[in-house]
Amino acid sequence: MTDPLSIRRLYGRAQGHPLRANAQRLVEDLLPKLAVPEDGALTTERLFGDNRPLAFEVGFGKGEHLAFQAARHKDWGFIGAEPYLNGVAGLLADIEAGGLGNVRVHRGDALDLLERLPDDSLSSLYLLHPDPWPKSRHAKRRFVNPGPVDLVAAKLKPGAEFRIATDHVGYMRHVMMVMQHMADFEWTAEAPGDWQRIPEDWPDTRFAQKARALGHDVWRLIYRRL
Ligand SMILES: C[S@@+](CC[C@H](N)C(=O)[O-])C[C@H]1O[C@@H](n2cnc3c(N)ncnc32)[C@H](O)[C@@H]1O
Repeated sequence: MTDPLSIRRLYGRAQGHPLRANAQRLVEDLLPKLAVPEDGALTTERLFGDNRPLAFEVGFGKGEHLAFQAARHKDWGFIGAEPYLNGVAGLLADIEAGGLGNVRVHRGDALDLLERLPDDSLSSLYLLHPDPWPKSRHAKRRFVNPGPVDLVAAKLKPGAEFRIATDHVGYMRHVMMVMQHMADFEWTAEAPGDWQRIPEDWPDTRFAQKARALGHDVWRLIYRRL
């Protein structure tokens, strides 16, 4: 049987240009202090020492959205997973600059971490501009597919939000198609323009900015866990 989480295999790049001295320092000194433990259950108690609400960002890129949310909700805990080392270094720089004590970082696959969270433990999950895998023969590599989305459903608390952004029209259609069959979620849009509205607690990421600069649309979809 094929693994329902077969996108677990990482296809993206693990590193870009060589790290500058400050980024290297952050990866060597700060990352070990903030890294998610390598095994065992990931309870908020274990990660933050208390029972605070928990949010998770899949593929945070350079981390600007995650740092924004962590600064806005200092009483929440945040976990970010991103295999791209230069991106991890970017998040670490924001964490240091903002004095953020409420973020834990994983350099690697998001699904590995999601599986280790207790069920019903997340208050939000962000998936912003996931790799679109535009060719239909690669569609099974997209994060939004029944296997990963079932896992997300298991980890979100009832009422929690699953926020998705994409600037790829094919991915947007794919999301809508997959999600309309997922009985655990409702789409929160009420009016046709809702998905292009910019909520004030949802800043554009680097990928969104690049897309807009090219004149492309950016779609934002918010699904609520039932
Ligand atoms: C198109 S980029 C978007 C980055 C960022 N979210 C933004 O909007 O600027 C997609 C990101 O997903 C990351 N990614 C790919 N597969 C992943 C996985 N299995 N787990 C976590 N992140 C992943 C890539 O490394 C890449 O940084």
